[in-house]
Amino acid sequence: MTPIHQVIINKNTKINPIWIMRQAGRYLPEFREIRKLNPNFIKLCLNKILSTEITLQPLKRFDLDAAVIFSDILMLPYGLNQKVEFQKGFGPILGEINIREMATLDETAFVEKIYPIYKAIKKVSTDNLMKNKNTIGFVGAPWTLLVYMINQQSPKKNLKQDFFKDKELIKNILLVLEKFLKIHIKNQIENGANVIQIFDSWAGLLGEKDLPYYIYSPTVSLVNFVKSLKIPVICFPREIKNYKKYCEIVKPDAVSIDYNIDPRNALKDIQIPIQGGLDPKILLTDKETLKKEAIKYLDIFKDHPYIFNLGHGILPETNPEMVEFLVSTVKNY
Ligand code: CP3
Repeated sequence: MTPIHQVIINKNTKINPIWIMRQAGRYLPEFREIRKLNPNFIKLCLNKILSTEITLQPLKRFDLDAAVIFSDILMLPYGLNQKVEFQKGFGPILGEINIREMATLDETAFVEKIYPIYKAIKKVSTDNLMKNKNTIGFVGAPWTLLVYMINQQSPKKNLKQDFFKDKELIKNILLVLEKFLKIHIKNQIENGANVIQIFDSWAGLLGEKDLPYYIYSPTVSLVNFVKSLKIPVICFPREIKNYKKYCEIVKPDAVSIDYNIDPRNALKDIQIPIQGGLDPKILLTDKETLKKEAIKYLDIFKDHPYIFNLGHGILPETNPEMVEFLVSTVKNY
């Protein structure tokens, strides 16, 4: 059994597997080299040879326990024929939504449009480097995708003023997302993904009263779907105010915590396996600080099933040498 499955399924507390959110990305010079020659990010995600190579780059350097497939949560709206572009220094920009077209889109057309992602998952999961390691597939949570689809760009701190105005549109988008997220998850699993992570990066934007409709209910539906396929599911409701309540209602197999939550409180409040937490900015300091902070997490979770990771994606300015040091600190603990 792979280390991550041992932690999530067997609740093993003796090992601490490690992977890093955005481990395939801009902090690696070998990634930047490929990226320079491939200015179109979407096309790069749909190039099965290059996306496989990029996915495996961090595993060639570091003793990580999983590969996370090089793709993006916004490949889903792209597959639904919403225009998606990535502008350097600005982030994603999305086009208008044609909800009538989306609501009638059929499964085959969607799968065909993003098919190279599944081929890359197959290639990664069967690569020699992947012995005793997990292939992590992922999706954006319905709420976070709704945010990008309606806001048409990152919401940074606030949503568009009239974001919630068209309730009928919101309802219909959520229905479309529920259908196609399940199709996307199923295809990732059928091609070799053996853990699914659900990224709810903008969970922190909502107040308590809006959580049942926008987060709990649609996420429960996805979590139950992944469980029905007998694959463990990790949820990352970034900056949600109440992780305890989220876990009790959504019941993922494991939860990834952000760096704003005190790990001691997480240990006290959360019964399921925990992942992550370390502030990515710590990797920009020095080895001594990094070691101290990493060991803090390992000590706190020493009797709790724990997967080492960061509290959000690794920053592009990170020195790969610090990642090497972090991985060996965790492995030698
Ligand atoms: O290594 C991995 O973790 C796998 C690949 C991965 C990417 N995006 C690649 C990527 C994953 C899991 C994601 C998830 C994702 N994408 C999320 C959820 C996690 C989070 O960060 O909160 C979100 C919100 C997105 C949407 C997205 N994609 C944004 C906001 C951006 C711009 C970020 C920026 O700093 O410019 C992206 C682009 C993106 N996705 C890059 C990568 C490696 C950078 C692309 C580049 O310019 O080279």
